[in-house]
Amino acid sequence: MTSLQSVYQEMLAFFKPLWPGEDKTLVLGEGRENSPALMLIGEAPGETEVIKRRPFVGKAGKNLDEFLTLARLNREDIFVSNAVKIRPTEIGPTGRTRNRAPNKEELSLFTPWLLREIQAVHPRALVTLGNVPLKALTEAKNTVGDCHGQWLASKAGIPLFALYHPASIIYRRALAPVYEQDVLTLAEALQSTKGA
Ligand code: URA
Repeated sequence: MTSLQSVYQEMLAFFKPLWPGEDKTLVLGEGRENSPALMLIGEAPGETEVIKRRPFVGKAGKNLDEFLTLARLNREDIFVSNAVKIRPTEIGPTGRTRNRAPNKEELSLFTPWLLREIQAVHPRALVTLGNVPLKALTEAKNTVGDCHGQWLASKAGIPLFALYHPASIIYRRALAPVYEQDVLTLAEALQSTKGA
């Protein structure tokens, strides 16, 4: 099996010439690299992630800590990454650079690399946060509104559990209890397969 480090080396070499002159730092995954109980996949890095070159730090790191507490997991026991490894940005009305959701082109460019990353890490389960990684790894018609809290077959051949993106709950407070229940359902499933 190809090692994660060689997948990352190939990926960096592939993307380097694509955006000459632009600051397109790739934020790679991190955590337990050999068959963790789960691999958590977000959308794309934000500003803090690019500065620190680590996924899920800054505000998103706080969301991740809450998820880990609820799911009774430790960050070092799982692998954490994103569907798209660059920070997608746009200029907002005040002229400031802000995050935007990854577009279809970015997603199709990164999905084959995400699949190779998953094969190298070989997790027992995938957990997607929000629509972007869900669509990359299952069928494009799937939405997190329909699929959250459910196990689905993934293109990686590894069972996938769909969650809302914790950041979306900040804008839709009514989703908070739904998200929490989904995380508890996931925690129970992980407990029952522990050691299996
Ligand atoms: N930071 C990440 O690394 N991923 C997300 O999906 C959001 C913030």
